Amino acid sequence: MNNDRKKLALIGANGMLARMVRHLAPPYFDVTSFDLPDFDITDRDLVLSAMTHLRPHVIVNCAAYTDVDGCETNEELALRVNGSGPGYLAEAALETGAILVHISTDYVFAGDKTEPYTEDDPTGPLSSYGRSKLKGETAILASGLTRYFIIRTSWLYGPGGKNFVETILRLAGEREELRIVADQQGSPTYTEDLANAVFSLLETEDVQMPYGIYHFSNAGSCSWYEFALEIVRLARLNKLPVKAESIKPIRTEDYPLPAQRPSYSIFSKQKYETITGRSIPEWRESLIKYFAVRQTI
Ligand SMILES: NC(=O)c1ccc[n+]([C@@H]2O[C@H](COP(=O)([O-])OP(=O)(O)OC[C@H]3O[C@@H](n4cnc5c(N)ncnc54)[C@H](OP(=O)(O)O)[C@@H]3O)[C@@H](O)[C@H]2O)c1
Repeated sequence: MNNDRKKLALIGANGMLARMVRHLAPPYFDVTSFDLPDFDITDRDLVLSAMTHLRPHVIVNCAAYTDVDGCETNEELALRVNGSGPGYLAEAALETGAILVHISTDYVFAGDKTEPYTEDDPTGPLSSYGRSKLKGETAILASGLTRYFIIRTSWLYGPGGKNFVETILRLAGEREELRIVADQQGSPTYTEDLANAVFSLLETEDVQMPYGIYHFSNAGSCSWYEFALEIVRLARLNKLPVKAESIKPIRTEDYPLPAQRPSYSIFSKQKYETITGRSIPEWRESLIKYFAVRQTI
């Protein structure tokens, strides 16, 4: 993407990832924010009229119904927000000539593989959230839009959002014992790294047809239990209040939740690395960076 001024429509602008996308947007982007209550991606006419009015060069969709367990009892709303909404944004992108960047999830997979998921692996969502996010991907693919990036990510955390790191910090400050699921493997993703990945992909515009589906998470992998151990270790190192004396590994079945989660959520990121020429930070390094800024961005 050349350095002329570009308009970027940031959808779901009040969310955790969007906050970082706005923070890290290169200076040649003029960012316009859209979110509830004024802007609802399930309102097709509103989406089309707002985008036709702005005529953005890029639409970055961070909006989603992200309450995974809530989606189980509200599948209809999940399908509208996570499924239909991205389709309307794709229509708007087609109409205005914009590139669409859309964020999807590891939950589109069943998690029954034993080696990293590639972009071409068959999907098989286990939950209402996963089905609704897959519907969003399918709506974009079916729209006829060719200039899109669908970026699947996992275990996202960053400043200004409800996320696993903040939950563990709160619980570790309140409880003497934590019991954390140890039989789900995945890769944490720091919003700073994902936001940078969005802009790295947008910079590949000159590569012959870079568009398509990409996997992006931090390098390396762990269980939720191992992730929690590292969070508490860093909490102690950063002199945050820690009451938790013991952190115990448990099985998924010992902590029943409404939505079924994939037990294996590790991505191959080779496609992203090849197209952008960028390497991806390891999850522990990124967690350290997050601790340094979590209250300040
Ligand atoms: N968080 C994770 O662990 C994770 C993992 C994998 C993938 N992802 C994906 O990453 C993306 C960003 O996630 P995030 O954690 O940054 O999400 P988030 O903090 O929940 O932000 C989502 C934003 O979208 C807004 N929104 C909800 N419904 C909307 C609608 N109908 N119209 C317009 N805006 C609407 C929300 O507003 P309200 O707050 O008012 O509802 C919120 O501001 C999402 O696509 C998510 O599916 C997240």
